[in-house]
Amino acid sequence: MGKHHYQITVNGETKDVLAEPRELLIHTLREQLGITGPHVGCETSHCGACTVDIDGRSVKSCTVFTAQVAGKDITTVEGLGSPDKLHVLQEMFKEHHGLQCGYCTPGMITRAYRLLQENPSPSEEEVRFGMAGNLCRCTGYQNIVKSILAAAAVMNASQEAAE
Ligand code: FES
Ligand code: FES
Repeated sequence: MGKHHYQITVNGETKDVLAEPRELLIHTLREQLGITGPHVGCETSHCGACTVDIDGRSVKSCTVFTAQVAGKDITTVEGLGSPDKLHVLQEMFKEHHGLQCGYCTPGMITRAYRLLQENPSPSEEEVRFGMAGNLCRCTGYQNIVKSILAAAAVMNASQEAAE
């Protein structure tokens, strides 16, 4: 199968990539662009470790071809925060021990980011439901949920302070 050029926008930067029509986005991100936040867990759409945001929706990047996202806006965990300036979700995962090995964490945070955009004040049940597509082998979810609820509280408080 021949390779084709595609333009994809990742974390605000437009990139030219050369990929076969069957190449999965997760592989283009990690292997061509060196964007290694999204992880490969199962490659069968079960674990959510590869979650990215595409045009305002959470998408498991092992479920889409790179060819399908040409011209779309993709955000990975690298686009949310940096080591110098963590996103509030990253801060709260750190503070509330929302990770152990960290393998699921980029996908968790990217999904939680979209969840809080869609519902800025979720209940615990809504967080659990909204995060149901992301699996963690380590933490038992308790602290992940706590971290997301804490991030929602911080984000809402800073929004109120700005008003
Ligand atoms: Fe994509 Fe598991 S690697 S859902
Ligand atoms: Fe290890 Fe979630 S922190 S898989």
